[in-house]
Amino acid sequence: MCGIVAYTGMREAYPIIIKGLERLEYRGYDSAGIALQNGDLHVYKKKGKVADLKESLKNVNLEGNVGIGHTRWATHGEPNDRNAHPHYSANQNLVIIHNGIIENYSAIKQDLESKGYAFTSDTDSEVLVTFIEDIQKNTQTPLEEAVRLALQRVVGAYAIVVMSRDTPHMLVAARKGSPLVIGVGKNKDEYFLASDATPIVEYTNEVIYLDDLEIAIIKNNQLVIQHLDSTIKTPYIQTLTLALEAIEKGGFEHFMLKEIYEQPKSVADALRGRISSLEGRLHLGGMLEYINRLVTADRIMILGCGTSWHAGLVGEYLFEELARVPVEVEYASEFRYRNPIIRENDVVICISQSGETADTLAAIELAKQKGAVIFGICNVVGSSIARATHAGAYIHAGPEIGVASTKAFTGQLAILTMTALLVAYRKGTINESDYRRILAELETIPQKIEQCLKLNAETEKIASVFKNAHNFLYLGRGYNFPVALEGALKLKEISYIHAEGYPAAEMKHGPIALIDEEMPVVFIATKDSSYEKIISNIQEVKARKGRVIAIVTEGDTEIKKMADFTIEIPHTIEPLSPMLAVIPLQLLSYHIAIMRGCDVDRPRNLAKSVTVE
Ligand code: F6R
Repeated sequence: MCGIVAYTGMREAYPIIIKGLERLEYRGYDSAGIALQNGDLHVYKKKGKVADLKESLKNVNLEGNVGIGHTRWATHGEPNDRNAHPHYSANQNLVIIHNGIIENYSAIKQDLESKGYAFTSDTDSEVLVTFIEDIQKNTQTPLEEAVRLALQRVVGAYAIVVMSRDTPHMLVAARKGSPLVIGVGKNKDEYFLASDATPIVEYTNEVIYLDDLEIAIIKNNQLVIQHLDSTIKTPYIQTLTLALEAIEKGGFEHFMLKEIYEQPKSVADALRGRISSLEGRLHLGGMLEYINRLVTADRIMILGCGTSWHAGLVGEYLFEELARVPVEVEYASEFRYRNPIIRENDVVICISQSGETADTLAAIELAKQKGAVIFGICNVVGSSIARATHAGAYIHAGPEIGVASTKAFTGQLAILTMTALLVAYRKGTINESDYRRILAELETIPQKIEQCLKLNAETEKIASVFKNAHNFLYLGRGYNFPVALEGALKLKEISYIHAEGYPAAEMKHGPIALIDEEMPVVFIATKDSSYEKIISNIQEVKARKGRVIAIVTEGDTEIKKMADFTIEIPHTIEPLSPMLAVIPLQLLSYHIAIMRGCDVDRPRNLAKSVTVE
């Protein structure tokens, strides 16, 4: 949450920073601001989106080669101009941009107040920058030393960049728990700092991922990296593989729609080089070293949040059915606050698109302390979770910028399927012909997703019928129960319509009371082992005058007779059906949200990666 960008070099800083903020806006869009060194230190900030800030700066002199910028997702203090970043320190000599939460800020604030400092915002970030100012004053140390001393006393998560009026050619950055990437200019004479690589890729492909507890000091365009204990670190420069087109809309109206449409390719990319049904080959290089731990596991625990947790639920069905190993799926946010029992032969799989979700990271740390081997399934290469896990596989979906997760979900399912299959094969819980059959079917999924996308116009028509509904119910059984949860989440987060997902059989234990002629019920009713049962559930809804939208297998005639609307998706085997069934649900929520005038890429109150608790 919150995006930060900074630049120092010979170019004009403002255009780089403002464009960078636009790229990072998916991380938060409550307010935005920049600070520039141009003869003096100036701060400009505004409630609202980056476009509002840009508009307000039309007639302002924005020259300068050093600057910082921030787009905010509010944690401390309501979204307004006052709480927007950058924040000045008390004497306005320092400015800070901050992503994260300083947990002990109120103790530090009280201490500073007792010394006579006053604050103009409600944020923890203003407390931090004033704390740095106070240390600098008391110790007469250079800025980087004051930052180091302050951070040694801070509890919480942060990625920060600090500038000082006194040292206009200097940026001091640091991270703990929140990401920070440094782009190194071609001649090593300019530096770009950002929460992720998207603001940087246009200028350089050489980057350094700052590690936790590291401070980067860039003075007169020379970079030094120190540990918080002041030891000097040798920067490890990596080459970015991110392409500029991947972070642009490419002719689509919204990132979300672009990302829905990318799924034939993103799933193919997740499978690429990893499977061959002809050769019976399944290769997950990043898992090999620890694969025996998965094969001999007594229990697998899958952890994640939101959509990634839904993917984990599908993983439970996959591992239990194919590899015959007990699985528990848990919200990382709950797991981390319990005292979970992890035994010697347990293995943990963590799923995260961003690789930065604070709850998932904290769950990993806890599981590690208890001695677990941890596998990661991430999208963002080099992310904190990818680095914190022992082994894993990237989904290779490319940047997911729309706040609602779409292509990450299908990519996560592709990896989970391959992993479960690999474990099953090695354990001998699947025979050769079933193994090859599933591999062969997996290879057809990208093309079948392509067919699902052809349902767009049909889905749009259904959306127009239900766009004003106040509630939705999503029902599925078995592998498609998590798809029901995911369909409901997509709808509520971008259209603000209340929606619930349930296992269809649970309906009669409560939710059936909600059903009347006003209630649209989306059934995922593909031809699988629970087909007959789900038909009974549809009849139960119809008997109470509910309106049924059913996702069915191509050629289905029976459900067509009873449902108000059917959407036919290609046939596939049961374990793979979530990868297809979710596509029309993503499209349905997209169209409903658009028809309701919602900002689908930037839904209210949300941000893409949740790096706070
Ligand atoms: C829903 C959505 C969120 C994320 C959740 C976990 O569309 O995007 O529910 O799935 O915040 O994020 P990651 O996967 O980045 O850990």
